[in-house]
Amino acid sequence: MLVRLFTLGRPVAASALAEALPTLGVDGAVALGLVRLGAARAGFAHDRPATSDREAVATCDLRPYGDDAHDWWVASDLSELAVGGPLRPDHVLGIGGASTTLASWTVRRPVDRALDLGTGCGVQALHLTGHAGAIVATDISERALAYAAFNVALAASARSGDVPPFELLAGDLLDPVAGQRFSLVVSNPPFVITPRDEDLPLYEYRDGGRAGDTLVRSLVRQVGTVLEPGGVAQFLGNWEVPAGRTWRDVWGDWLEEQASDGVALDAWVVQRESQDPAEYAELWARDGGAQPGSEAHSRMYAAWLRDFASRDVVRVGFGVVTLQRPATDRPVWRSLDEAHGPVAAPMGPAVDAGLRARTWLAEHSDDDVLDVAWSCASDVTEERHGRPGAEDPSVILVRQGGGLGRVVRAGTLLAAYLGVAEGELTARAALDAIATVLGLDPDQVRAEAVPALRDLVADGLLV
Ligand SMILES: C[S@@+](CC[C@H](N)C(=O)[O-])C[C@H]1O[C@@H](n2cnc3c(N)ncnc32)[C@H](O)[C@@H]1O
Repeated sequence: MLVRLFTLGRPVAASALAEALPTLGVDGAVALGLVRLGAARAGFAHDRPATSDREAVATCDLRPYGDDAHDWWVASDLSELAVGGPLRPDHVLGIGGASTTLASWTVRRPVDRALDLGTGCGVQALHLTGHAGAIVATDISERALAYAAFNVALAASARSGDVPPFELLAGDLLDPVAGQRFSLVVSNPPFVITPRDEDLPLYEYRDGGRAGDTLVRSLVRQVGTVLEPGGVAQFLGNWEVPAGRTWRDVWGDWLEEQASDGVALDAWVVQRESQDPAEYAELWARDGGAQPGSEAHSRMYAAWLRDFASRDVVRVGFGVVTLQRPATDRPVWRSLDEAHGPVAAPMGPAVDAGLRARTWLAEHSDDDVLDVAWSCASDVTEERHGRPGAEDPSVILVRQGGGLGRVVRAGTLLAAYLGVAEGELTARAALDAIATVLGLDPDQVRAEAVPALRDLVADGLLV
């Protein structure tokens, strides 16, 4: 009954609602603004045949949500399924795939101060309550801030008030927190690339009012100004790839621009998927409630294609961005990776380990790498493929069970090293022994192995 009311947006009999909410009651739900009562209606086929019952209608979507340690209720605007048509431009989004992706990838270290930029209904801020000493959540939408305030208040009441100090600020991107510093910034920003076309609905939840991918680019450029040394920023984004360039070229430019503006940041960008303009237009013209085949959908689809063509865009990447402000004046590191398959869930622990490993690698020489007794991580397995009857495999694949789910093709040398990487011998000693057995020059073996070791250490296949 509550699902029917708050998820599907269908009216229910007030008497049935009273039974489903024995503590709050119908009057309590009305007082909280979750429900309004309509006229008396005859008969509710799915609830009870109360002929003179009043109709209760949800004013919002309300659903249970949680993480390993918490159970929450989260209110947001009713979805397009419940509304049964196009959404209002200031629609406040509920918890969707992008929200849970960011929540999964977020590094959950205990931090002093955290920022949730573009908080919407406050879902990321709720997750932050578990590991941040104080939280600031911002949004350009006053309606979104009101929902976030409500949801955090609900969480606080359910947990007897042990929610950390929490501040809500209105404004564009980092404007409301200029001059402040955070150890963690998370954002599921309105990254959808939307044509600046007067005929199109501009949804606040997905469109930050800028052309192309400039909103995400601005975030990359500016976020360092609010990060503590050692602080981390994580957000989702789309990026345009023009003809003749790769997504790594695009990110190279963005990071150059970022570094030239102030303190250079470490950058780990994982591209999770990429679409051509037609696929992207199809996806986003449908979002918001326009049906494929309708005049509105065709108009939007054409506008998206025109917009991409005007900038010569041939692909649009989507992924998760993790930026870190170095705690010392060492050179920054960059990892621009692709992972299109399944990854660990939650992914945060692997990102945390990846940040630490990359930072360690940036601070240590190749000799230091060789002097560690690495172990092959427990989630790593090896596959050997060969012709039937062949003595030696023609392909050896090293597969990571967790993390980014990496699959690395290993040559004889690397496969031999991984076979003995059990945390007892330093890499130097192990590689020298392998060189002797294979009759190879030890210097050459080490020179060949070190880049592969660095790669496997960065992604947690060697620990
Ligand atoms: C995709 S929703 C994300 C909501 C929520 N954080 C989540 O993870 O589901 C993006 C949010 O950014 C807000 N927003 C849009 N433009 C913004 C801007 N220029 N500055 C700050 N927030 C903005 C929208 O109002 C919306 O609430």
